[in-house]
Amino acid sequence: MLRIKIQHKYRLTCTQCGYLTPNFWTWFEQDQQCPKCGSKHSEVWYNRRYQRLPRLIGRTPNSFWHYFPFLPLLRRRHIISKGEGAIPVERWIFLEEFAKKKYGLDLNVHVYRNDLNGGTGTFKDIAASLAASLFNEIGINQYCIASTGNSATAYAKYLSLAKVNCSVFMPEDAIKTSEATISSYGQQVFRVMGDYAKAKEIAVGYARLHNIPISTGNIDPIRIEAKKTMVFEWLRQMDKFPDVYIQAVSGGTGPIAIDKGIREIKQVYPGLKNPRFLLVQTDGCDPMVQAWEDAEAAGFPEGFEKKYPIINNPQTEVPTLATGNPATYPIVAKLVKKSGGSFLRMHEKKLVPVGKLTAYEQKVIPGPASAVSIAGFFVALRKNLIKNGETVLLNIGEGPNRAPYFLEQMIYTSHNVYNVDECAPHSIDDYRAQLWNEVMRD
Ligand SMILES: Cc1ncc(COP(=O)(O)O)c(C=O)c1O
Ligand SMILES: [Zn+2]
Repeated sequence: MLRIKIQHKYRLTCTQCGYLTPNFWTWFEQDQQCPKCGSKHSEVWYNRRYQRLPRLIGRTPNSFWHYFPFLPLLRRRHIISKGEGAIPVERWIFLEEFAKKKYGLDLNVHVYRNDLNGGTGTFKDIAASLAASLFNEIGINQYCIASTGNSATAYAKYLSLAKVNCSVFMPEDAIKTSEATISSYGQQVFRVMGDYAKAKEIAVGYARLHNIPISTGNIDPIRIEAKKTMVFEWLRQMDKFPDVYIQAVSGGTGPIAIDKGIREIKQVYPGLKNPRFLLVQTDGCDPMVQAWEDAEAAGFPEGFEKKYPIINNPQTEVPTLATGNPATYPIVAKLVKKSGGSFLRMHEKKLVPVGKLTAYEQKVIPGPASAVSIAGFFVALRKNLIKNGETVLLNIGEGPNRAPYFLEQMIYTSHNVYNVDECAPHSIDDYRAQLWNEVMRD
């Protein structure tokens, strides 16, 4: 723990009124909000020369802590890391070939493999690593979070590494494997009988009652600062910055962080702009898509982003994405509009077919939320949202390890046998047509 409170590395600026918070000690004393206007959305800005960034981008990282000068931690000795954020951007040729064959498009299709993160193998590890390190530095030893699974699992692990107690509030339908993982680290789980919105409500009450800081969700500056390093990594790994970015969306930290990262480094990368955000939800929980479709039909009237439906108790196969009350839609929708992007819906009945196809063609088994993102690529092509010559980046955020029920549905080559006469060799290629057909047919 560090006792100094005067530091010159960074400060937080309120996005609503510009109020300056000098450090994270004060930010938590202020209950993680602006004391002037009450907004919870402050951004971290650094008193740094960004000339150093291109040099860092020229070198291979061991983790996202490679970008330490541009993260809000003062001492490297407080870092809690498991190699998160040092993940590859891969080219997935089978998707390029498909776009060429079916739509005549020459695309570069890349996939950002968040499922390979060191900590828990999800999109959430970098944020949890930054949170754990920061709490280590400023001396927070109790925290709480409401989560549908991946965030809580990552926070539970990293905070236990930092010896921070973390109480997790999960909705009734959260995946049992996530609950087991969190519990096994010794962190406390409250399974809330109700949906994610209800879990959040109880968590807020608990935080207030016990005066414990709570994760503020998608606009939490800690999460945004961690995730903005995605931009640095794409600059490092890709020949060309993506024109199109596809992600399964729940609350939208991804696009908010990308936008922040790009604005932050404008000085040294003046030509950089947001990719077109194509954000995907499933038909089981699609409030953002519904809001967007209504706004589009009405010609995006002034203030369109403030209107969105709330889905109570969403019934979905992807609990990770079950945000029925998308409070960040106003921020995310504006970013999507400005980027020329869109919100897309995929059908949950396609999750397993997309999972099987990806495992077969690429030998990467996606988790359900990753299958949503990959399905979004097919939807985007069908809707003519990707142009010839463009570079597309799909962000996939989880492998199948926390969704065993999903993986089990991928069995399709097994035979139950009683004797050797029933067993004959096979040819892998014979499955291809069937797997593509399952994905393509209506
Ligand atoms: C694997 C995965 N993909 C996508 C998301 C959506 O992330 P967000 O909407 O916060 O950008 C999440 C988390 O909710 C996730 O765990
Ligand atoms: Zn303010």
